[in-house]
Amino acid sequence: MKMFRIILMILILQSIQSCTNDSSEDFLGVIPNVVNYTEHIKPIINNNCLTCHNSNPNPIGPFPLETYDEVQDKTENGNLLQRIQLPVGDPLIMPQTGKMSQTNIDIILKWKDQGYLEN
Ligand code: HEC
Repeated sequence: MKMFRIILMILILQSIQSCTNDSSEDFLGVIPNVVNYTEHIKPIINNNCLTCHNSNPNPIGPFPLETYDEVQDKTENGNLLQRIQLPVGDPLIMPQTGKMSQTNIDIILKWKDQGYLEN
């Protein structure tokens, strides 16, 4: 019984840790061969943008980035790509909290190059 509680504790601690995982390490430096929204883009956006860009009553960001359509539109027609690639320290950089890893940025650029696959 004691062993079981210890294992449970470890599992709980691990899950807490994975939530607070540094977002810059999302894909541990690996760029997928084929990038799609559901598997790759959505987790990056969720970890780095959703705290502000959501559809809560009083969001900090000016628009939500919660669906494929919203993210695709801002990437193709908005200045999302420009804002995530600004130099470190630029006041307009997104996320406002600091530049993402180059891997994350490259994955989003590849998503565009491959035609914004959804799945
Ligand atoms: C800490 C809050 C916060 C986070 C995190 C954040 N944003 Fe923003 N974002 C804002 C605010 C506030 C604005 C409006 C002010 C501005 O344009 O700088 C904004 C503006 C933008 C704009 C410009 C909109 C326009 O029409 O000019 C884009 C694009 C954008 N965010 C994308 C992103 C992306 C992509 C991420 C994640 C990689 C992200 N943001 C993370 C708060 C945030």
